[in-house]
Amino acid sequence: MKTLNIGLIGAGFMAKAHSVAYAGMPMFFWPAPAIPFKKTIADINEAAARDAAEKFAFASYTTDWHDIINDPDIDVVDICTPNNVHAEIAIAAARSGKHILCEKPLSLTTSQAKEMYLAAKNNHVKTMVAFNYRRTPAVQLAKKYIEEGAIGKILDFRGTYLQDWSADPDSPLSWRFQKDICGSGALGDIGTHVVDMLRYLVGEFTSVNARTATYIPERPVQSGMSDSLGNTKGGADSIRQSVDVDDQCCFMAECANGAFGTIEATRNAWGRNNYITFEIHGSEGSICFNYERRDELQVCFAKDGDDRRGFRTVYTGPCHPYGEGLWPIPALGIGYTETKIIECYDFCKAIMQDQEVSPNFRDGYAIELISDAILESAKTRVWTKVKEVAEN
Ligand SMILES: NC(=O)c1ccc[n+]([C@@H]2O[C@H](COP(=O)([O-])OP(=O)(O)OC[C@H]3O[C@@H](n4cnc5c(N)ncnc54)[C@H](O)[C@@H]3O)[C@@H](O)[C@H]2O)c1
Repeated sequence: MKTLNIGLIGAGFMAKAHSVAYAGMPMFFWPAPAIPFKKTIADINEAAARDAAEKFAFASYTTDWHDIINDPDIDVVDICTPNNVHAEIAIAAARSGKHILCEKPLSLTTSQAKEMYLAAKNNHVKTMVAFNYRRTPAVQLAKKYIEEGAIGKILDFRGTYLQDWSADPDSPLSWRFQKDICGSGALGDIGTHVVDMLRYLVGEFTSVNARTATYIPERPVQSGMSDSLGNTKGGADSIRQSVDVDDQCCFMAECANGAFGTIEATRNAWGRNNYITFEIHGSEGSICFNYERRDELQVCFAKDGDDRRGFRTVYTGPCHPYGEGLWPIPALGIGYTETKIIECYDFCKAIMQDQEVSPNFRDGYAIELISDAILESAKTRVWTKVKEVAEN
């Protein structure tokens, strides 16, 4: 069986998730499209790179990501750094003919996203942007129902991604609150996951009307590059610096197919942890999903008799999307790891079968154009058209 040599850059939270996926993928999906081999991990922090190589079972480590690009034996470059270095690494990887898995959001700016997309396209490498939540089996089941026409013509939708890890003003100013490193705040960090899911399920977004807010204008500075996601707190005497991105983002969106809806993203919603939800209403029924109950899809069909119509719960299992590789009993428990394992499986399959996979850099670029329109609309407070993807 073919081996794919992996070079992973950035040894933090996502490095852990992706490393587990490389190890676990062949255990779930057999025969595997290829066996991932964890060859090199890079981090600018040498101790982090060294520890990660040991913990995540990489054959070697480096503090310079160029070593991965220059290694002729590396097949896949996996970008798990903060957003400000995605573009430079991805463009260099594409020019070296390496396939690229890049964490979301794709880039800091739309011009970077365009350059990344064109570099990959012109160098004929496969790409994937790690919007893994759409690979939850229940979300894939929602897609199946929609494609089969089970809920008819889609009329409207609402989506949320609500968390509370930054609601405390003492939650530190990590890279996720600095525009030059992250690009945008709640919007890019979490809102884009919902945009990806609803764009996938409903259709292309054409215009948006948005509001953003920054409720906590200063936070205690966090030392070190790796984001603790609010798990370490600064004290009252900590040095504080300005937050220059949104804490909250809320917008209406219109789609090319006439459907419209609302999306809300915040990391300051006390009591919400990873509250990714959507509800989609069609002419023949409705679909409802909540990631905090991710084994379940709620569906309601208009054709059911008046005396029994209502939401029913379908637990995903072996007869549902990806069920053949996952667990043999419905509701046994789909986790974050499974979504990353499925992502890894689909990406390795795309490489081995020389096929495009979604979401790829084109999708990542399209989502950057939507994010750009959202931030523009939040400034001007008027409906704003989403620009089209440039093909050259
Ligand atoms: N798909 C998801 O669900 C999900 C979840 C969390 C984060 N993310 C995305 O993953 C990416 C990484 O986030 P994270 O939470 O793992 O971050 P993190 O802060 O935990 O880790 C980032 C690591 O990158 C290293 N780094 C920074 N610059 C580097 C460089 N130039 N070269 C090599 N290493 C460098 C840092 O030292 C740090 O160890 C971000 O783009 C983020 O938006 C996605």
